[in-house]
Amino acid sequence: MSRKKLIVGNWKMHGGYKQCRASVPLLSAAICQDVDLVLCPPAPFLGEVAALASGTELAYGAQDVSAYPNGARTGEWSAEMLIDLGCRYAIVGHSERRQYHQETDSIVATKAQACVNAGITPIVCIGETGVERTTGVTEEVLARQLAALLIQPGWRRAVIAYEPVWAIGTGLAATPDLAQQAHAFIRQELAKVDPNAASLLPILYGGSIKPESAADLFAMADIDGGLIGGASLEVDSLLAIYQAA
Ligand code: PGA
Repeated sequence: MSRKKLIVGNWKMHGGYKQCRASVPLLSAAICQDVDLVLCPPAPFLGEVAALASGTELAYGAQDVSAYPNGARTGEWSAEMLIDLGCRYAIVGHSERRQYHQETDSIVATKAQACVNAGITPIVCIGETGVERTTGVTEEVLARQLAALLIQPGWRRAVIAYEPVWAIGTGLAATPDLAQQAHAFIRQELAKVDPNAASLLPILYGGSIKPESAADLFAMADIDGGLIGGASLEVDSLLAIYQAA
């Protein structure tokens, strides 16, 4: 089954206009047919990225989105608003959202469905903590996080990002074998509900991907690309990771 590779740069709460202007033209110029590239800057800069990426193949998206289409929800933005800006993607359920904003599996799944309803592809993050891995409950945790998502019919239009929490921002990426094992487990859980959708759905790896580690990770059968945090802040390293895919 061939799935198109996808690289997503997540700037988190970093960057600004200057960085958008320096990065977007270089990223847009590097895009080839075989691998998709998505940039997720902080929300205040999505308009700038939209303007700079206009007419190019560079896709962009938000790092979070509301579960609701509109209403009295100060500080939030909806998937419909992202469509208005030309976004095609939104990250949902990043471990930092789960940890610092108390987002539950069910909130994350509702956000993913809200994205699909509006025509945005949700990039749904799941992953175990270090303690969960060492106590041997990784698969249990992944299965629980997925179960909430699989209730929503829109999961078939999602991208999943496996991001072990212990690997995020630590410099300690999962080995290709360990990541592949988790990705295969995730695909198997999806296949229990819909084997065809499971075989088509991109599963990205995220957590301390660097240009040096990228190619070996992307060579694994069930790893369809990456969600890149720290290394996406340097345009050269994001491009090197993109080339590796
Ligand atoms: P990292 O972040 O590449 O800096 O580990 C990945 C992520 O949190 O999406």
